[in-house]
Amino acid sequence: MEVIAEGSEVLLYFSKKYKYLVKVTKQKFSTHRGVIDLSQLIGKPFGSTLETDVGEKFVVAKPTFMDYLERFRKVTQVIYPKDAAAIVLFGCIGPGSRVVEAGLGSGALCAVLAYYVRPTGKVYSYEIRREFIEVAVKNLSRVNLLDYVVIKEKDITTGIDEENVDAVVLDMATPWLVVPHAHKALRNGGYFICFSPTINQVEKVVKALKEHNFIDITTFELLLRTYKVEEGSTRPETWMVAHTGYLTVARKP
Ligand SMILES: C[S@@+](CC[C@H](N)C(=O)[O-])C[C@H]1O[C@@H](n2cnc3c(N)ncnc32)[C@H](O)[C@@H]1O
Repeated sequence: MEVIAEGSEVLLYFSKKYKYLVKVTKQKFSTHRGVIDLSQLIGKPFGSTLETDVGEKFVVAKPTFMDYLERFRKVTQVIYPKDAAAIVLFGCIGPGSRVVEAGLGSGALCAVLAYYVRPTGKVYSYEIRREFIEVAVKNLSRVNLLDYVVIKEKDITTGIDEENVDAVVLDMATPWLVVPHAHKALRNGGYFICFSPTINQVEKVVKALKEHNFIDITTFELLLRTYKVEEGSTRPETWMVAHTGYLTVARKP
């Protein structure tokens, strides 16, 4: 069982809504349910329960990649986990993959791609806005993934520098302008995947994919509905995110 040391990062878990990611020091930390003396965590195992000064209980959990991803600083719309997960599987992205991505934005999708291409793969991420690159670099370094990313301050519609890549993943406004470059950059059997918020973008990108002889062109959307599970009254949650965007997947034969 792993023991908490001074300097460890921990997730103080009260409920799904209230959880705090903190670094353990000898200081006190204020929550919505009282103050926690962080020094009492040193030497305790992860999974321990502790009480605030007003007797409320928190579980001390080991933080995961998802905890950090949820706390990324967001300066752009970022990809939702349900869409990122599909991109990884449908793009056959895994350890050792070389993936071209645009735009980097806040770096959320880039982080997911980098997480999966480790330890021998690379993500080549194109972005036109320097101020977004600066934020993304900070987000990616917080999850120790910068070593797996090459960031390029470049308009991807002007060309892709890499050759023989395994996948091209796009989350930007004009993916159809990238299709000819993606066709040139992809290896045979490589995947083109783009995320588009509107169906008008999908029509344009599918037309371009057909013109460039991509096959297996598929467009879909994913709706994620979570459930409130209580014995005798289990039902879907009242609110859900009804629309994020459409995913278009195609492969170079
Ligand atoms: C919706 S954001 C991407 C968010 C990112 N996927 C994430 O999860 O954090 C779209 C980004 O594409 C960038 N972009 C738009 N056109 C571009 C182009 N031609 N080349 C490179 N980046 C571009 C924008 O500056 C913006 O940062």
